Amino acid sequence: MSQSKLGLKINGKDYTLDADPNMPVLWAIRDLLGLTGTKYGCGAGLCGACTIHVDGEPARACLTSLKQVQGKQVTTIEGLAADGLKQAWRDNNVPQCGYCQAGQLMSAAALLSQYPQPNDAQIEEAMVGNLCRCGTYTRIKAAIKQASGTSAQLDLNEREQSLREIEA
Ligand code: FES
Ligand code: FES
Repeated sequence: MSQSKLGLKINGKDYTLDADPNMPVLWAIRDLLGLTGTKYGCGAGLCGACTIHVDGEPARACLTSLKQVQGKQVTTIEGLAADGLKQAWRDNNVPQCGYCQAGQLMSAAALLSQYPQPNDAQIEEAMVGNLCRCGTYTRIKAAIKQASGTSAQLDLNEREQSLREIEA
């Protein structure tokens, strides 16, 4: 392994690391920088526990090397600004053991920045790679809908329909 001096931008802060450019970002952020919110699950891109954003796009930190994020903005759960989404997570009591939840939130935040009001298919497509051993999928979906305002919109539509039925 050859060490190099690498500049990294994480959560808006600049870091310089002496590390192998092929080191997965997950090792660097957890072991070298102490940002342990991002979790190690499978180490093979299969579970989503390690999801971060690279230039706003979701990425698996276990499969992304330090050299791949040179000159790019990395965001981890510690730097995620999505307050509305986090509140929706709390309101819906989403986490159980919590292990997968940082990755779930990172994927959900990336989804909402691309589609502020995602439909069911878009939610499923964005979240399918994030596994939850505790089976919190229904609550994750409810929280995403709450954060996007679609659940409120659904309630409104249902109310309007009931009113129309009463008036008819
Ligand atoms: S630890 Fe990266 S996808 Fe599972
Ligand atoms: S909350 Fe336990 S694995 Fe998802």
